[in-house]
Amino acid sequence: MNHLLSISDLTRADIEQLHRLTDSFAEVSRRSIPKVPALRGKNVVWLFYEDSTRTRLSFEQAAKRLSADTMTFSVGSSSVKKGESLRDTVLTIEAMGVDGIVVRHASAGVPWQIAQWLEDRVSIVNAGDGWHEHPTQALLDSYTIRDERGALDGMHIGIVGDVKHSRVARSDVLAYTALGAEVTLIAPPTLLPSSLEGWPVTVRHDLDTVLPSLDVVYLLRMQKERMTEHLVPSLREYTARYGLTSRRVDALRDDALVMHPGPMNRGVEISAEVADLPRSVIIDQVRNGVATRMAVLYLLLGQGVDKVLGAEVSELPVVLDPDPSGSGPGNQAQGSNHPGQASPTAGVRA
Ligand code: NCD
Repeated sequence: MNHLLSISDLTRADIEQLHRLTDSFAEVSRRSIPKVPALRGKNVVWLFYEDSTRTRLSFEQAAKRLSADTMTFSVGSSSVKKGESLRDTVLTIEAMGVDGIVVRHASAGVPWQIAQWLEDRVSIVNAGDGWHEHPTQALLDSYTIRDERGALDGMHIGIVGDVKHSRVARSDVLAYTALGAEVTLIAPPTLLPSSLEGWPVTVRHDLDTVLPSLDVVYLLRMQKERMTEHLVPSLREYTARYGLTSRRVDALRDDALVMHPGPMNRGVEISAEVADLPRSVIIDQVRNGVATRMAVLYLLLGQGVDKVLGAEVSELPVVLDPDPSGSGPGNQAQGSNHPGQASPTAGVRA
């Protein structure tokens, strides 16, 4: 595996290993100069055919902290406007010399198609393909729950709202259940996929009866831009039945977490006050997103999957030593004089 296309390509052990790696990158992110030379000389392109704030900035921040070079492709100001095909765009970008392409596209399957065109010469990361998958979101979400509660085993996680149009829900269900959680989807029938065959989930339509049993309430945005028909009578009615209001939060267990992938529609799926409660870990999700994406980029572009998955973090080379160009406490180079060149003997500082 050179790519991260779907959570279904990862085993439970793979996800757990990525989480441990994320712990190490979270530590790097807390340093006064949060930068390591792990991907020095590597070039990553952001190929975003759909709007994004947090995902693109988060990948960008991750790449910078790993000292990778980056290039941004914005559809609005590119030759796509002149009629260039996706395949020609991708082959053009490859010819410039890139190691990784992080792609978001409105059509499901595009990241697989690119991997095929490039015959696996470049690592592809799926940053969201249509309604299909968003694997790094699921990795950062499951990491956030693990970080707050220790493990997902035996947890009851409710995913509430517009599951039908949600790539986040599809990837989250795969990750949560792989890690031993039980998942309930809570939505009106019109906001569920037409078939849930093969989904390892329970479905409920009444949020109020499920809330007291949940360890995590995961709210989805009403994705109006993807709706071609009226799936709920009105947003007010949706909020009345499925919105996480202050009254509904009172029905939750004391230690239950509230999550949302962002961007939030305050006042629709989540009330403004609930979004700011201490139990709402939405900002932690964003913070963990950077460390998660550092782990993913490092895994695919740095040491190689074979060396990382299945290895203990402590067995990995000294890539987490500070960047010697940095200065200040905690940022003096230690060990290798050749940043980016692996010393197989030294351990990672976790
Ligand atoms: C999500 C997306 O774009 O799939 N946002 C994100 O990446 N954090 C969810 C959404 O748009 O509602």
